[in-house]
Amino acid sequence: TPLDHIRNFSIIAHIDHGKSTLADRLIQTTGGLTAREMSEQVLDNMDIEKERGITIKAQTVRLDYTAKDGQKYVLNLMDTPGHVDFAYEVSRSLAACEGALLVVDASQGVEAQTLANVYQSIEYDHEIVPVINKIDLPAAEPEKVKQEIEEIIGLPADDAVLASAKSGIGIDDILEALVKRIPAPKGDINAPLKAMLVDSWYDPYLGVVILVRIIDGSLKKGQQIRFMQAGTTHLIDRVGCFRPKIEILDSLGPGEIGFITAQIKEVSQTAVGDTITDAKNPTSTPLPGFKQVQPVVFCGLFPVDAADFDKLKESLGKLRLNDASFSFEAENSAALGFGFRCGFLGLLHLEIIQERLSREYDLDLITTAPSVVYHLNMTHGEGSIDLHNPADMPDVTRIDSIDEPWIEATIYVPDQYLGAVLKLCQDRRGIQKDMTYVGGRVQLLYELPLNEVVFDFYDRLKSISRGYASFDYHQIGYREGDLVKMTIMVNGEVVDALSMIVHRHAAEGRGRQMCQRMKDLIPRHLFKIPIQAAIGGKVIARETIGAMRKDVTAKCYGGDISRKKKLLEKQKEGKKRMRQYGSVDIPQEAFIAALRMG
Ligand code: GTP
Repeated sequence: TPLDHIRNFSIIAHIDHGKSTLADRLIQTTGGLTAREMSEQVLDNMDIEKERGITIKAQTVRLDYTAKDGQKYVLNLMDTPGHVDFAYEVSRSLAACEGALLVVDASQGVEAQTLANVYQSIEYDHEIVPVINKIDLPAAEPEKVKQEIEEIIGLPADDAVLASAKSGIGIDDILEALVKRIPAPKGDINAPLKAMLVDSWYDPYLGVVILVRIIDGSLKKGQQIRFMQAGTTHLIDRVGCFRPKIEILDSLGPGEIGFITAQIKEVSQTAVGDTITDAKNPTSTPLPGFKQVQPVVFCGLFPVDAADFDKLKESLGKLRLNDASFSFEAENSAALGFGFRCGFLGLLHLEIIQERLSREYDLDLITTAPSVVYHLNMTHGEGSIDLHNPADMPDVTRIDSIDEPWIEATIYVPDQYLGAVLKLCQDRRGIQKDMTYVGGRVQLLYELPLNEVVFDFYDRLKSISRGYASFDYHQIGYREGDLVKMTIMVNGEVVDALSMIVHRHAAEGRGRQMCQRMKDLIPRHLFKIPIQAAIGGKVIARETIGAMRKDVTAKCYGGDISRKKKLLEKQKEGKKRMRQYGSVDIPQEAFIAALRMG
């Protein structure tokens, strides 16, 4: 396809503003997929999504469009995920495009992620076409939203397209706007091959599939290529694109987006952002590449049933095949036995992996408190070390100071919930940087310790604003904090899985809360069980579980036989979910409850 007949664009939007619906509608309108095929298509995709976890993967579709000028165009649509945990996915998709459709819900207006995505898009010099979606809704206020786009984002919104992805209004206008307003890609077919490795994933039939954007030159089957950063060579065995079904092509030329396969076995062999070039005739100017994403939230995952350890290991390995952004290494806890220390991009990412382990791999797991990565500045010239697991914290006498990661958060909230949101940010050690009114809403800029956000900040924010507040953040570096390691002791023994790093001022409250929750959930034993929270050797909170009275058991095990059987079964079930600790049985629920904040 000649360069001036190609348009590469992504769709950026806040969650739920209709990105996927619009993408489907564009596919349907241009691809001539019938409504029936369309619904099959969507279903197909959902299965694949489940299989591959593509919900977190950017998808690309090639569309053929005959514009009003009578010319045929190739439109490459790159879908992007909306959640902050996956901001890096957005960034790499944007790097492969010349423009973006900015979708804003006509009844909701500009939200935190709208803004975050637009900034990224602007960084790549994109032409941005605003689309005001859901104008079919009675609550739609397109004029107000236009004003927000101009005031908050600073983009002219006069020529924003009014659309309803659901009922099909404005779809032709969007297609025309893409052709007219988004610039064609540049490139030289005669120059040595230079292509960007945009994404890769494992497919059970094709092996590793690599999504590429060609800058210069071309890619063909049988070509010997080189990944410049990785330093490896491969033989291309397939070239193609998604429509969204797979279509095999003869070649891909400058400005085009498509996929290749080259008998690569593992995603880890492909670095996103790497430059792909011809092995014999390489380019002299590789692309700058992307920053490697680093996990920011760590937690331990332990099988409830110790016999499931190997299964857990195998399952983590499988998930990792398609998600190089999460990490795991074996860990041994006195309380929980053998498990894994895992790193994630954020809490949603953690939840997705946890959910998949339990649903798809049928694993019953205990998750320890999520923790960020601390920098410990050591005394005695020991330098600085990264702490991923609070249980590994060295003796305080060896630590000079502790630095923790901070973020800058942007929050949008309707006026009436402002007070509650301010209090939440305050409670979480937030520092207010800015507060501006836009229409009936307030835009807040806060600096917050990441540690205070990873647990449940987003959930709390949603609940105190009845779902109306929106939130986005990025990391802004490390700062020293007055942080301490708090341990929980049950019957005099430290339960390592419950150790956590907390701010000194929050320690007592948090300790008391954890002791109370453990008290409520640990069953009575034949002896008294003290539960204590401590910093260093100093106990800061304490609860006691009274001893069980003898006649309670007697009563339980008397009575008719069927009831007795039931009780025994229940007890067996319960046993499985218990962790014996010293001489005390701690049920799984107690761990989970103790670790939940707020
Ligand atoms: P994520 O995939 O979660 O990021 O969301 P998204 O932005 O892709 O939104 P999605 O397309 O899933 O749409 C969210 C909801 O809005 C769905 O229930 C859609 O049916 C609905 N929706 C999308 N477009 C329209 C529209 O034009 N009008 C109306 N009334 N509803 C719409």
